[in-house]
Amino acid sequence: MQSYGLLHKLQIIPAFDASESQLRSFHSEEYIETIKESDAKCSKGGTNLDCSMHNNYELDVSISGEEYGLAYDCAPVSNMYQLISSIAGGTLAAVNAVATGLCKVALNWTGGWHHAHRDEASGYCYVNDIVIGILELLSRGFERVIYIDFDLHHGDGVEAAFAHTSKVLTISFHKHEMGFFPGTGSLKETGWGNRGKGYAVNVPLRDGITDGNFSELCNSVINEACRNYKPQIIIGQFGADTLIGDPMNGFNLTLEGPANCLRNLLLLNLPMVLLGGGGYHHTNTARLWAYLTSIVAGVQLPLDIPDHEFFLEYRPSYELAVEACSTRKDSNSNEHLKSINEAVLANLQRL
Ligand code: FE2
Repeated sequence: MQSYGLLHKLQIIPAFDASESQLRSFHSEEYIETIKESDAKCSKGGTNLDCSMHNNYELDVSISGEEYGLAYDCAPVSNMYQLISSIAGGTLAAVNAVATGLCKVALNWTGGWHHAHRDEASGYCYVNDIVIGILELLSRGFERVIYIDFDLHHGDGVEAAFAHTSKVLTISFHKHEMGFFPGTGSLKETGWGNRGKGYAVNVPLRDGITDGNFSELCNSVINEACRNYKPQIIIGQFGADTLIGDPMNGFNLTLEGPANCLRNLLLLNLPMVLLGGGGYHHTNTARLWAYLTSIVAGVQLPLDIPDHEFFLEYRPSYELAVEACSTRKDSNSNEHLKSINEAVLANLQRL
């Protein structure tokens, strides 16, 4: 983004650290205290890097931290409290900017940590900035918020937080196969209770989906949802782990799949906050978020990535595009996609 000069095309909004009460709008006191205790032990352990690497420390947290998900893929890191406050604060700054009319679309690619639960870190997510941001919107009087999750993984933390209410309609497009994290997100999960039933939408997909099928299905579902639900604001999560070449090895998308979805969202002409998410091929992730930013800013980027400090990381192409070069087959037959589309649209008509 910087090398393309995109930052000069945007209004830069200062972020802030979320306060403890803002973090606790979603997370439990016990969870936040465990994060703080972990930080204290970490600094005692004397390492400033990944605390899980420190043997003494690992013994210390194995009992208290694991209960709150602070192990394995969410191993404690140093300055965890600062990390979660700044991530949540970035999303709150974006949400505030859009809610107050400072801008129509706000971006926080560092946000989008959709797996964290009230009491538990999960799937590399130590904080759920998305839920905290949406709660801020509800406290400001918004009553129809639509959350759309394009990450390879089911947006389970956000869905669970709002599954009981009609004030937030969550839609998640994700890979849903046996044994694939987090395991939730089937067609049948549609929210719960008198007010929530029907207000969680899941679009489970199989391996290898390509740009055309992906964006056609997403846009069909989103447009129908917006026709029926009439949202006041959109929160979009654009995880980059759906791209070809991502180590998660799920979908076969180039930049154009998510980009077509974003172009469709922009046509809805609603206030919007766009967040990041997964993305484990780092240069492709940077390519996607820079490209999506250029679409929001209305700027056409040259294909050749400009020379900059990290230029060599973009070998061998040194270009913006992610080529459709995968040999993995698309396991989503036309019949499968059609049946999912019909089932989801039928549910949406009941809203
Ligand atoms: Fe993901």
